[in-house]
Amino acid sequence: MDNFIKKIIINHGHISYLCLTVLLFLIPASILSQETVSKDNCLNCHLILDGKFKQPAVLFSSDIHFKKGITCSACHGGDSKSDDQDKAMNKAAGFIGIPHGQQVLKICSKCHANEFNNFVKSVHGQSNTGNGTIINNCVTCHGIHNIVPVKSPSSKVNGLNIVKTCTGCHSNASYMRTYNPGISVDQLEKYKTSVHGQRIFNGDSKVANCASCHGNHDIKNVKDPQSRVYVTNVPSTCNKCHGDANYMKEYNIPTDQYEKYKSSVHGIALLEKGDKNAPSCNKCHGDHGAAPPEVESITKVCGTCHALNEQMFQESPHKDAFQKKNIHDCAACHSNHGISKTSDEMIGNGEKSFCIKCHANQDKGIQVAITMKSYIDSLLKEVNLASYLINKAEQKGMDVSDAKFDSNDIKKVLITTRNVIHYSNLEKFTGSINEGFNITNKAKITGEESIKDYYVRRIGLGVSTILITIICVALYFKLRKIEKKRT
Ligand code: HEC
Ligand code: HEC
Ligand code: HEC
Ligand code: HEC
Ligand code: HEC
Ligand code: HEC
Ligand code: HEC
Ligand code: HEC
Ligand code: HEC
Ligand code: HEC
Ligand code: HEC
Repeated sequence: MDNFIKKIIINHGHISYLCLTVLLFLIPASILSQETVSKDNCLNCHLILDGKFKQPAVLFSSDIHFKKGITCSACHGGDSKSDDQDKAMNKAAGFIGIPHGQQVLKICSKCHANEFNNFVKSVHGQSNTGNGTIINNCVTCHGIHNIVPVKSPSSKVNGLNIVKTCTGCHSNASYMRTYNPGISVDQLEKYKTSVHGQRIFNGDSKVANCASCHGNHDIKNVKDPQSRVYVTNVPSTCNKCHGDANYMKEYNIPTDQYEKYKSSVHGIALLEKGDKNAPSCNKCHGDHGAAPPEVESITKVCGTCHALNEQMFQESPHKDAFQKKNIHDCAACHSNHGISKTSDEMIGNGEKSFCIKCHANQDKGIQVAITMKSYIDSLLKEVNLASYLINKAEQKGMDVSDAKFDSNDIKKVLITTRNVIHYSNLEKFTGSINEGFNITNKAKITGEESIKDYYVRRIGLGVSTILITIICVALYFKLRKIEKKRT
């Protein structure tokens, strides 16, 4: 019966509206629910076709556009009022058939200008217009004929679904290679290991999905300064959620990461001085694997940039001790988000010392800390004394260029020694700092001797001046005597 009707419709395009209505009456109610009996004759006729010609009409009944009274012809052109196939789908009357590529964008942009305007400037939109190849258009993300409000759980761009939508292309290595072999295809794999990924696959849509970090219509190449994940923009992108105490309430984790980071040595370097070598959130947490670094991985994270400190820490007594107690390596002393510029006050037993966080007064640890601090203090005193002496000698016109060179070496020793602290080993520490004492001793001696030389020379000069004066005076009287004798 159904087939018979279809045959009539297909073979006799020119059937009257009345005839169609009668025929529709004969179609079982399951095919045409009341909702879908519509004034849209494109829909009505297509519902009784087969396969790929029927499917759009079936899907369309749940589409937001259908619900807003928009007809098939709003996108495809043609005359939706006509029940005559040839009239309805008449190209001369604007019927465009199946739109492709750019045409799709053009159709959607008629009613969604904002989205379109952002999209054409995006990495996806740019790739479209570049060489005419269509990579991504509105329907690759939103679907066709079953577009629903974006907040609906079944929307292709909502929560968990957006991850599937993006990775449908981005995890497809052979597909991505044809467009840009330079882009990695491991985002999904990594994302699955992140707290974001794990939670979203358990139905928590508040965590970050691909679009929360990259945007939706305005996605940019990650090296584009306008990208939300451009190195200097990452902290504020993460902070949109992580700094919002209300949004994060149910998770019971701190929401001060950005505040602390902003005024940390890293935050100041990146955000204020524009030093892109300083880490943004993702350099420590991973681009897609965002999770709090595990105890063992923190050293590795910091070690990617501070290799020497890491190596020394690995050989320190803290390495095993921290691991056993589940203490976070570098972060145990330096913290994680609020890392500040270091100073010698961070060692010893003063208020700002890191060591007093864990070591009490009787500990070997604190004793070592106090010794190290006192050595540094006395080296600094020696350095001051040596440079005072060298300066003084220089002011007196003595040649002290050798000793001056040595005081540059002192700077190097201080840098090394402050590094060597990470061994937490007194022997290694004294080995390093003794070099400093040797240099300052030498400089002090040079300074002292130059000053001594200066005075020796001055006394010598004084004595010889007196002698010369005496000789001159003697000569004078001698000459006077001779002159008197002549007269
Ligand atoms: C009376 C039935 C009937 C009406 C009314 C009708 N169509 Fe069709 N349509 C068909 C049939 C049958 C086909 C299958 C291919 C063909 O014969 O061109 C088709 C094909 C199509 C195609 C695919 C074209 C292609 O190039 O493959 C589109 C798109 C389409 N119709 C959209 C519409 C739209 C939009 C309207 C309303 C403005 C409409 N149709 C009205 C019967 C109809
Ligand atoms: C919101 C815009 C929009 C509306 C409304 C719309 N379509 Fe489409 N349709 C498209 C786009 C875009 C494509 C082409 C997608 C592609 O393949 O890239 C398409 C493709 C089709 C195709 C070809 C399918 C195929 O597999 O080749 C048919 C047939 C079709 N539409 C019929 C209809 C009918 C019938 C209606 C109304 C019930 C309708 N469309 C409503 C946008 C729309
Ligand atoms: C790369 C995937 C992607 C592409 C391509 C895309 N969108 Fe979207 N779109 C999204 C996401 C994601 C959302 C937001 C979902 C949310 O807010 O939860 C969205 C939201 C929307 C909305 C709802 C209002 C809004 O702006 O939030 C409209 C309308 C829309 N898109 C239309 C379009 C049109 C038109 C195009 C083509 C010019 C397009 N989209 C291309 C992913 C995409
Ligand atoms: C004739 C105008 C028109 C055309 C053409 C059109 N749309 Fe829409 N679209 C609408 C209207 C009206 C709504 C409902 C808006 C609302 O509820 O606020 C809508 C809603 C949407 C939504 C859901 C927005 C939300 O707030 O959740 C998406 C996504 C969307 N359209 C995508 C598309 C895409 C993709 C195309 C092209 C294939 C397209 N539209 C073509 C008019 C249009
Ligand atoms: C928590 C934020 C976040 C989430 C969620 C996220 N990304 Fe990223 N994405 C980033 C950051 C940060 C970068 C790296 C930027 C850089 O290299 O400077 C990046 C880089 C990329 C790149 C470029 C990679 C390359 O090799 O050039 C692609 C493609 C990408 N992401 C896609 C995705 C997809 C798909 C998803 C969803 C599975 C996703 N992202 C989820 C933050 C995120
Ligand atoms: C239809 C396939 C497709 C879909 C769906 C898609 N993309 Fe893409 N995307 C691409 C292709 C192809 C490129 C490479 C464009 C180029 O480099 O010319 C790209 C580029 C990107 C880039 C820039 C990478 C870089 O080199 O910096 C990011 C970021 C990105 N996409 C994120 C997303 C996100 C997030 C989604 C989902 C909201 C998404 N994409 C959906 C195909 C897709
Ligand atoms: C859309 C909001 C959103 C964005 C954007 C976002 N996150 Fe998250 N993130 C969350 C939520 C919600 C959790 C779940 C908290 C939990 O489980 O403790 C989470 C969890 C985390 C965790 C694990 C915390 C823990 O101890 O469980 C880390 C680390 C993290 N995010 C880092 C980042 C970084 C880095 C960025 C930026 C590159 C980022 N997030 C962007 C919402 C977001
Ligand atoms: C220098 C490396 C580093 C940078 C930069 C960094 N983090 Fe962290 N982050 C860590 C470490 C280490 C932990 C784990 C601390 C712990 O568990 O004791 C952590 C923990 C977290 C957590 C878990 C909750 C918490 O506060 O303990 C979140 C969420 C988080 N970071 C987000 C961010 C965001 C957002 C940024 C950027 C504004 C950022 N992180 C920058 C190293 C870093
Ligand atoms: C992406 C590279 C990078 C990573 C990862 C990194 N840092 Fe840094 N760090 C820097 C740079 C660059 C500076 C210098 C900033 C400035 O002062 O201009 C710096 C400065 C510092 C300083 C201050 C040094 C001083 O002279 O006072 C400390 C302490 C520090 N980082 C500790 C850490 C710790 C602990 C971690 C891991 C939790 C870490 N960093 C991760 C690059 C990094
Ligand atoms: C036991 C505490 C402690 C641990 C653990 C620790 N540090 Fe330090 N770190 C210090 C102290 C104290 C200073 C300051 C030394 C000074 O200025 O006298 C310092 C200085 C630094 C500096 C600046 C001086 C320099 O070497 O350039 C960097 C960078 C640094 N630490 C990185 C790290 C990294 C990376 C780790 C983990 C591998 C780490 N620290 C682990 C105590 C610690
Ligand atoms: C987060 C806690 C913590 C901090 C901070 C800390 N230590 Fe330790 N330290 C330990 C633990 C635990 C041990 C293992 C032996 C013990 O229990 O005393 C240890 C051992 C040592 C040892 C070896 C002691 C021995 O018995 O051989 C030295 C030396 C030491 N620490 C020096 C320092 C110095 C110097 C600082 C400050 C720059 C410091 N520690 C900061 C926890 C810490």
